[in-house]
Amino acid sequence: MVVSTTEALETGMRTPNSADPLKDQVALVTGASSGLGRATALALAQAGADVGLVGRSKPELDQVAGEITAIGRRVLAMPLDLADESAIPAAISQFLDRFGRVDILVNAAGTDVPGSVEELQAGDWDRVLDVNLRAPFLLAKAVFPHMRVAGHGTIVNVSSVAGKRGWANASAYCASKFGLTGLTQAVAAEGKPYGIRACILNPGGMDTNWGTWSSAERHAENAEIEEPRSPTTALPPADVAALIVWIATAPPALVLNEAIVSPLDEKGWP
Ligand SMILES: NC(=O)c1ccc[n+]([C@@H]2O[C@H](COP(=O)([O-])OP(=O)(O)OC[C@H]3O[C@@H](n4cnc5c(N)ncnc54)[C@H](OP(=O)(O)O)[C@@H]3O)[C@@H](O)[C@H]2O)c1
Repeated sequence: MVVSTTEALETGMRTPNSADPLKDQVALVTGASSGLGRATALALAQAGADVGLVGRSKPELDQVAGEITAIGRRVLAMPLDLADESAIPAAISQFLDRFGRVDILVNAAGTDVPGSVEELQAGDWDRVLDVNLRAPFLLAKAVFPHMRVAGHGTIVNVSSVAGKRGWANASAYCASKFGLTGLTQAVAAEGKPYGIRACILNPGGMDTNWGTWSSAERHAENAEIEEPRSPTTALPPADVAALIVWIATAPPALVLNEAIVSPLDEKGWP
């Protein structure tokens, strides 16, 4: 069932014009301990949503959870490694037990093992594909039945401009992000009859902790960073998070299938 904007208004579903357009909605955000995922979790909470947070770093998730509680929304931190398939069903059960519904899924978690095809080990390839592509599949699979029954849902999968063009020393990363486009388009096609929308979002450079692959590395890196990078070379993650909120609050009959968003001086695109 696809709900028109008029029907949405009549049935009380929120539209982007209200002050808290996502009030009574529940979002699940991966990569919520850092960077874009963190900014997205906070922005969705600001827009009224209750939020489940996924990442490996419990201290950082707890910090974001505290900020969301201060905004006045309910929050659940679920520290887990997305490469561990067995951890995902338990987290989804915990999430649904707590909130009873899922309206929005944002797959922002991502990782990389840089290296040439000659250097890259098969295990590294598997880990990048597990986190960047297999986990979004498993999470979409877990939330889809609930969204189908509800008759609506929004899934945003965060790819990259590296999902539009192959780069040297990034074969696993590019393959995972190109694959995420295929997964997203298939989910969008399957979701259409049930009002489920799926968007593939391809950012260029963002001013995040990207390139540090653990919370310990992030802390070491942050200790050295004094100034944010220029928005013309690296987008503030909050700006991209605002686009994700827009996607989630767009009129129900409007689907943003794909977006490429880059800083003015993006080197990787076009
Ligand atoms: N920054 C850029 O320039 C850029 C450009 C294009 C696309 N992207 C994409 O944007 C997304 C967000 O990245 P970011 O820039 O915000 O980088 P970031 O600050 O490094 O955040 C990455 C997030 O992914 C989580 N993560 C990594 N491996 C995980 C695992 N195995 N299990 C659970 N969570 C895991 C991290 O949490 P834990 O460490 O706590 O697990 C962290 O919250 C990624 O998908 C990335 O590919 C980034």
